[in-house]
Amino acid sequence: MADTLNAAWAEAWLRNSAAVVAEHRKELIDLDRAIGDADHGENLDRGFSAVVQKLDESNPETPGACFKLAAMTLMSKVGGAAGPLFGTAYLRAGTTVGESTELDSPLLAQALAAARDGIVARGKAEVGDKTMIDAWTPAVDAATEAAEAGAGPADVLEAAAVAAQQGAESTDPLVARKGRASYLAERSAGHRDPGAASSALLLRAAADAAAAAGNGAGEAGASGA
Ligand SMILES: Nc1ncnc2c1ncn2[C@@H]1O[C@H](COP(=O)(O)OP(=O)(O)OP(=O)(O)O)[C@@H](O)[C@H]1O
Ligand SMILES: [Mg+2]
Repeated sequence: MADTLNAAWAEAWLRNSAAVVAEHRKELIDLDRAIGDADHGENLDRGFSAVVQKLDESNPETPGACFKLAAMTLMSKVGGAAGPLFGTAYLRAGTTVGESTELDSPLLAQALAAARDGIVARGKAEVGDKTMIDAWTPAVDAATEAAEAGAGPADVLEAAAVAAQQGAESTDPLVARKGRASYLAERSAGHRDPGAASSALLLRAAADAAAAAGNGAGEAGASGA
């Protein structure tokens, strides 16, 4: 497996994200209909379609440039709560990786942690508030642990994706304490948080892009031994 991930991986992650968000658009709308205003799937689909368009028009040469492109596009195209939150996540990840052309496991774990910290700085949610943080924080913990144990980047992202999915599922019984869903109080219990669900999809897309890169599938997204 590859030791590092490069710009081709970052671009593949964003393109996979657009595909998976489009595929799950209705499901995300339905989740947000239950405890919000039914716009989450539409917001994200619009945002990631715009990201793909930007990628088609430009050729970001580093992972950081890919993340910054995503940040700017999501902030301008996705309204509501999720646009600024995901935008900040990509912006912080981009700042963390800087000009690096190759991301190793520790840097990747740091970038995910910075993304999560950006969401927290902006939204002030804690684990258990029934938000996307319930997916991100276990994902960051799993990624950090995997990186510290010496796992390669694809395995770091796989650990993050699995933990994010479990984290999203953990929101089902919770009562929302942040965002629009909190207006429902106890009635928000029994539904999955849409932002946690979409965050799990995005981290799954990252892991799948890394696995494909490691297998030499598609565009070369990884390098190293
Ligand atoms: N303070 C917060 N911190 C972290 N995540 C949040 C916060 N508020 C909302 N979210 C996440 O945003 C998701 C909702 O995103 P969506 O795109 O539907 O925005 P919205 O709530 O409809 O925005 P608005 O009501 O401002 O239009 C929630 O499922 C939750 O995961
Ligand atoms: Mg909404």
